Amino acid sequence: MSLEKLLKQVLDKEYKVGIIGLGYVGLPLMWTFHEKQMPVLGFDIDQKKVDCINEGVPYIKHLGKDKMQLLANSDICDATSDFNRLPEADALLMCVPTPLDGHREPDMRFVEQTTEVISRHLRKDQLVILESTTWPGTTEELIINILEKNSGLKAGEDFYVAYSPEREDPGNENFNTAKIPKVVGGHGEDALKLACALYDTAIVKTVPVSNTKTAEAVKLTENIFRSVNIALVNELKVVFSEMGIDVHEVLDAAETKPFGFMKFTPGPGLGGHCIPIDPFYLTWKAREYEQNTRFIELAGEVNTAMPKYVVQRTIEALNSHKKSVNGSRILLIGLAYKPNVDDDRESPTYKLMDYYTELGAQIDYFDPYVPVIKESREHAHWAGKESIEWSGNSIRAYDAVVISTDHSDIDYQQLSEWAGLIIDTRNAMKHVKDKNGHVWKA
Ligand SMILES: NC(=O)c1ccc[n+]([C@@H]2O[C@H](COP(=O)([O-])OP(=O)(O)OC[C@H]3O[C@@H](n4cnc5c(N)ncnc54)[C@H](O)[C@@H]3O)[C@@H](O)[C@H]2O)c1
Repeated sequence: MSLEKLLKQVLDKEYKVGIIGLGYVGLPLMWTFHEKQMPVLGFDIDQKKVDCINEGVPYIKHLGKDKMQLLANSDICDATSDFNRLPEADALLMCVPTPLDGHREPDMRFVEQTTEVISRHLRKDQLVILESTTWPGTTEELIINILEKNSGLKAGEDFYVAYSPEREDPGNENFNTAKIPKVVGGHGEDALKLACALYDTAIVKTVPVSNTKTAEAVKLTENIFRSVNIALVNELKVVFSEMGIDVHEVLDAAETKPFGFMKFTPGPGLGGHCIPIDPFYLTWKAREYEQNTRFIELAGEVNTAMPKYVVQRTIEALNSHKKSVNGSRILLIGLAYKPNVDDDRESPTYKLMDYYTELGAQIDYFDPYVPVIKESREHAHWAGKESIEWSGNSIRAYDAVVISTDHSDIDYQQLSEWAGLIIDTRNAMKHVKDKNGHVWKA
C-alpha cells in the first residue's frame, strides 16, 4: 500500500494502534489514542492486566474506574495476551521495561523478546515504533536487525520503523500523555512522516528529529539533566546543613530569579523506573566509543549516598533523645518514590528500611497509596508487609518517624502532634509549627 493511502487511513481513524506492554506508559497511551477515537489493541504477557482492561478494573492509580470502564465498554478497544493477533494492528508501539541488570548494565531482554515476537508476525506496511527508553543506536542496531532477520522483509521498503521516547510523568496533573510534545525519529523520511501523522491524531505536538538515534539521545539527555541537577542540590543540602543554612530556603529564594535558574529539590535519594536507571544506558554505550561519562557517574555516586546520609541524621537525632537506632522502632512515611503516586519501583524508602534493619531497628511504614508491598525481584524480603494505620496510638509508639515521600494528603500538623521525633527528608514539615523542636531535616 502507498504511503499516501496509509496516511489517509490514519487521518480517517481507520488505522489500528497496537500497544505492547500495558504498564505505566502503555496504558495511558492506549487511553490517549482511544480518547481521540483511534482503534486500539493492547498486548501484554501479563494476563491480569489484560483482564483488568477488558473488565474495566483500574490497576494504575491515575487511570481510574471511569476511564477503565469506558475502555472496557468500547467497540474500538480490546486487550489480549494472544500475540497471534499482532498482524491485526497497523502500528505496533513497544512500551516494555528497560531496567538494568545485576551489573548495572542495560537489560534488553524485554525489548529483544518483544521484537522477536513481532518479527514472527510482521506483515507488509506495518509501522513498528519503540517507545522504551534506551541507548542511542538501539533501533538501528538491534530492532531493525531482529525484525528483518526473522521476517524476510526490509525496513524502509516493506515496513516502517521509528523511535519515539515516552515522557509520561505519572501523577502530573498539568501534563498527561496527550499534552506532552512527542519527539519522533524515523528510519527514513517515510517512517518519520507516518509516525508523526499517527501521534498527531492524539498528542498536542510532534517534534521530528533527523533519525532514531537522535530521538533516543533526547530522552537520555532529559533524564541525565535531572539526575545531575538532583545530585547538585543533594550535595548543596549536605554542605549548607553543616553551615546552619536551610537548603530549601535557599532554593525557594533562588527560584525567584526570572531567568537562568531552574529549581530542583533535594531528597533521600533517587527512585522510580527512570532517573536512577536511564543515565547508565548512555554510560554503557559510551564505553564502545571509548568515552567517559564523568558527570553521570558522579551524580550517581552523590545520589546513591543520600539514603546513608539520612541514616546518619537519624542516628544523630535519636542520639539527641538518648536513644540508638539499635532497638528503636522507626516508622517510614511514604513508600512510593514520589508524592501522590502508587509507584514504589526503586524507591529510596526501601534502601532506608534495609539500612535501619541492618542497624537493629524495627521498621514499619505508612503509605495510603501502597497499602501492601507487592512481590518483586528487588524487595522480595519486604513482600506482604502492610502499611500501618493512621492513628495517634500507632504513631506515638515509634521512637522516630522518617518522612521519605511527601504525599500531599497527609496531615503533617497532626503528625507533629503525635510523633516524638521526626526526620524530614522532603521539607514536608515546612508549614508546621515545630513547637517541641523535634523535627530534624535530612
Ligand atoms: N513509568 C514512567 O513514568 C516512564 C516514563 C517515561 C518512560 N518510561 C519508559 O517506558 C518503558 C516502559 O516503562 P513502564 O513504566 O510502563 O513499565 P511497566 O513495568 O509499568 O510496564 C511494562 C509492561 O510491559 C509488559 N511486558 C514485559 N515484557 C513483555 C513482552 N515481552 N511482551 C508484552 N508485554 C511485556 C509487562 O507485563 C508490563 O505490563 C521503559 O523503557 C521506561 O523506562 C517510563
